[in-house]
Amino acid sequence: MARLDVTEVFHGISFPGHLHTQDSLQFALKFPFQDTDILIVSYPKSGTTWMQEIVTLISSRGDPQFSKTVPNWARSPWLEQHYCAAVLEASSATPRVITTHLPYHLLCHALQGSKAKVIYVSRNPKDVVVSFYHFHKMANFLPEAGSFQEFLNRFLGGKLSFGSWFDHVKGWTSQLATVSNLLHITYEEMSLDLQGAINKVSSFLQCSLVEDELNNCVKHCSFNSMKDNNMVNYTLIDEGIIDHSKGAFMRRGKIGDWTNLFTEEQNQYFESVFNSEMQGCTLEFVWEER
Ligand code: A3P
Repeated sequence: MARLDVTEVFHGISFPGHLHTQDSLQFALKFPFQDTDILIVSYPKSGTTWMQEIVTLISSRGDPQFSKTVPNWARSPWLEQHYCAAVLEASSATPRVITTHLPYHLLCHALQGSKAKVIYVSRNPKDVVVSFYHFHKMANFLPEAGSFQEFLNRFLGGKLSFGSWFDHVKGWTSQLATVSNLLHITYEEMSLDLQGAINKVSSFLQCSLVEDELNNCVKHCSFNSMKDNNMVNYTLIDEGIIDHSKGAFMRRGKIGDWTNLFTEEQNQYFESVFNSEMQGCTLEFVWEER
């Protein structure tokens, strides 16, 4: 039953109540990962759906049959969402592909000792906040977006649904030096060299592809293919939950769209918070396409 007006607060983080319950969030924290599992992790709007499509296509060696007939949430369900247990139970797929937006500190106990392969997808946070802002305007299950200035304040203060972008990125990437079954890949890498990114993911998953298979993967997970695939473009979702008249999930798909919305003052404000939050962090971001 959709509960669009409810927010679940769990460990101090807000989650949309129509997809999350206290029980479903607890289920995630205690999830018994299998060593064969593939876990896609991201902060929202960082390229989650794109990576789900890439992993699906790699697993099916470029054949789009599965990705064009089964919705992304049924082939790679979100661990913390209420339907996940039922989807996994009903599926006999191996490896299981699971998605999560949870921060590292909430999932680290469940993952401890597991050999599950974890793919962490990040995106430059100026584009994340812009994409998230547009998504809030069409998603009736998220709080009102308000003005962009208000939204930016909430993003930088870690007050949006799914919590702080800074904690998310720092938490997951802090494990890179010590955990061998964790791959970090960025939206910008996928955007600038999709073939290279698919190769990187396929070799991490130990599923190497021949040239034709690789070319098919590239073709079917391009922005234009995915925009037309209603198994990933969210057009199957009821109008009451996502108001399709207000925008498209597959919106721009570009690096640097933030330059179309940020004012100079907002950019300066962003950079001052970013520099202070990311102090000591060596991650580098691609902010614009040259
Ligand atoms: P924009 O709103 O900037 O267009 P997520 O799946 O994590 O919610 O991320 C959604 C963002 O990824 C949206 O960004 C969407 O357009 C973009 N995206 C999804 N598939 C893409 C693809 N194949 N190529 C480029 N961008 C893609």
